Amino acid sequence: MQESGFLTDVKTLRERARRHIEQGAVTEGYQADRKLVLKLLNEALATEIVCVLRYRRHHFMANGINAQAVADEFLQHANEEQTHADQIAGRIVQLGGEPNLSPDGLLTRSHSEYIEGETLFEMIREDLVAERIAIDSYKEMIQYFGTKDPTTRRMIEGVLAVEEEHAEELATLLEHYDQTQTPYAGSVSLHQMNQDALPGHKERQK
Ligand SMILES: [Fe+2]
Ligand SMILES: [Fe+2]
Repeated sequence: MQESGFLTDVKTLRERARRHIEQGAVTEGYQADRKLVLKLLNEALATEIVCVLRYRRHHFMANGINAQAVADEFLQHANEEQTHADQIAGRIVQLGGEPNLSPDGLLTRSHSEYIEGETLFEMIREDLVAERIAIDSYKEMIQYFGTKDPTTRRMIEGVLAVEEEHAEELATLLEHYDQTQTPYAGSVSLHQMNQDALPGHKERQK
């Protein structure tokens, strides 16, 4: 291979691109360990799917206890996690892999947990914990992708930014919530919370 400085010459680039053309976006210049990247992405995919399921459960349960604004927030997060899952699945296919969407072993592949929570406070807290797990694991993935796979890195960076927003919103919700009150019994406090809280929620609805 002829290289001038750190750039590969055009002729070599063209020859390389023609070899193994069936590998699509994965060229000979792909520097990451593709197998490992696919494994990491399938773990991220499972993490997102578990988050979709947990947030959706929380959405319907919060609706049941008449906490509309919080229920809306859960639904919005669920939909954003689904968008992440779709982005990740798309990238897996682009890299020549297969998205693992099998329910078998989903929780083992996922980094975050599926905890239902009995009260609204517990739901918010468990969602916050799950976001914090996702934030840490995505940061590690970003570190690994580095310059070896910048496209995947940028995608996960975008996902990470949204998880950080989610965590921030949940932390704000928790601050507004008095955990000593039982939401199932204390609908007055929930009503009050719907009136007072959720600045982030209101902003994003504009
Ligand atoms: Fe997500
Ligand atoms: Fe999230």
